[in-house]
Amino acid sequence: MCGIIGYTGDKEAYNILLEGLERLEYRGYDSAGIASIHNNTIQHHKKKGRVANLKLTVLPGKTGIAHTRWATHGKPEDKNAHPFVDETEEFAIVHNGIVENYLELKEELRNSGVFFSSDTDSEVIVHLIAKNYTGNLQEAVLKILPRLIGAYAFCVLKKDSNEIIGARNGSPLIIGLGKKENFLTSDVSAIIEHTHKVIYVNDFELVRITPFSVEVCDFNGTQKPLDIKEVNWNLEQAQKQGYKHFMLKEIYEQQQVFLDSLKVPVKIEKSFSRITIVACGTAYYAGLIGKYVIERIAKIPVNLEIASEFRYKEPLINKDDLVIAISQSGETADTLAAVRLAKQNGARTLGIINVINSTISREVDEVIYTRAGLETGVASTKAFMAQLVILYKLGFFLAGKEIDLTSLTEKITQALSLNEEIKQLAQQYYHYPNFLYIGRNLNYPLALEGALKLKEISYIHAEAYPAGELKHGPISLVSEEIPTIAICLQDSIYEKTLSNIQEIKARNGKVIALATEGDKQIKQIVDDIIYIPKVEEIFYPLIAIIPLPLFAYHVADIKDCDVDKPRNLAKSVTVE
Ligand code: G6P
Repeated sequence: MCGIIGYTGDKEAYNILLEGLERLEYRGYDSAGIASIHNNTIQHHKKKGRVANLKLTVLPGKTGIAHTRWATHGKPEDKNAHPFVDETEEFAIVHNGIVENYLELKEELRNSGVFFSSDTDSEVIVHLIAKNYTGNLQEAVLKILPRLIGAYAFCVLKKDSNEIIGARNGSPLIIGLGKKENFLTSDVSAIIEHTHKVIYVNDFELVRITPFSVEVCDFNGTQKPLDIKEVNWNLEQAQKQGYKHFMLKEIYEQQQVFLDSLKVPVKIEKSFSRITIVACGTAYYAGLIGKYVIERIAKIPVNLEIASEFRYKEPLINKDDLVIAISQSGETADTLAAVRLAKQNGARTLGIINVINSTISREVDEVIYTRAGLETGVASTKAFMAQLVILYKLGFFLAGKEIDLTSLTEKITQALSLNEEIKQLAQQYYHYPNFLYIGRNLNYPLALEGALKLKEISYIHAEAYPAGELKHGPISLVSEEIPTIAICLQDSIYEKTLSNIQEIKARNGKVIALATEGDKQIKQIVDDIIYIPKVEEIFYPLIAIIPLPLFAYHVADIKDCDVDKPRNLAKSVTVE
């Protein structure tokens, strides 16, 4: 949620910052802006919309900060874009997070004569710094930090210096260490072509970088040792490599992700009586499949909670519980808060996390890293596959059973080869404004994930229901105008789902079925069909999860939607 980056070194900052911003755009793309220092003045340029809008105005300078925004306070307009400068243009800041007490601070600053140029919460930070500056930027920042309530990672620079100060409480901030240059960023992908050496800044830490030095201290100003880590991502992962969109590339990468995930050791101590899974979005749906799998295979009760609900629920958990947080980014604010609450209640916490060294991965008691690699498309695909594999492995491990999924590899290849067929189907159906998705049992979370993908990237309204629930309300929506995608695989409840499809057909609804190869019966009933290879019932999600996002992808592409950066969304949601 908002991406920030800072550079100070011996090169021109502008291109480095702009390229970094483009990699951070998954965090928000409502506006973008850059500030740099040149001839002891702050140059700044900011614009509503995408980072690309900044390209026409090149700013000189070897020290700079930049921002890409996901709007929280204040509409996506030029005036609300970061960076913000104080009235004398001595300081500039970029901020990721929310200053919750900004109204009170704004009122106080206004009463002392400060003029505000935006509707944002962030602008108070720069004015507070200007008011408290008495010759040392770091001291001014340390002085104002206790006044800020909420979450933040911000960077600040001063017009006549090559230092950048950063501070973190709740939002990610990473230092990149280079030769005669140093960086600050929300995410390593933004600096990966410049350095692989990083320091993950912790909450309540302040950072000072110049081209030749890096210092970290706590909010009392006490110096801390530098914990330097090596990142093993490469630049290719951050590029489209011939694919039209990252999402399509990432769907195709699922086979490799599957194979890599098989190698992940999944062993935990079995000292708990219940499991609670907390997650958001796609990770939540992976959790729902995990619940079915763990309960069915290991016979351990699993409670599943949307993290944003769990955190305000006074949950009934204690030291006998294992709380599993599933998150691609490892930064989702609600999931992080859920983990903290679980720990407060004495529960043991386990993270199933993709981004190494992310905040959640550092806060949980144990972590299992998924091996999806860098996921850039805002709509999560390959991370979902990686999460599923780990949950299957966990379910079988807890049951004390062996699992060998390697035979599924070729079925995944088969499912990927459906791409052209699905594209044609998308041509047939893209103009419908509403869709229903149905499935029962393990197919229900798939229906939810399929519907989520369609709505988030193609802006088509899609609702998912357990197929048996249709008759309790949603069936009144069924008509020729609303196609239903029915996940009806040859499993133990096949006949039941088939009956639900018949109910739709009896009411003139169009049905596209996701069915099992060789199923002739269903062909006579539905309008269109996508066949996936037959596998053992419990493993269907690992195959079925390929055609569903492909359908959403092609519909969105035909509609010319911005597939990788759907409107109003961000990949890493670091605000509540
Ligand atoms: C956002 C993304 C989703 C993602 C969810 C949870 O809403 O757009 O794709 O599933 O956050 O993110 P996490 O990083 O915690 O898995």
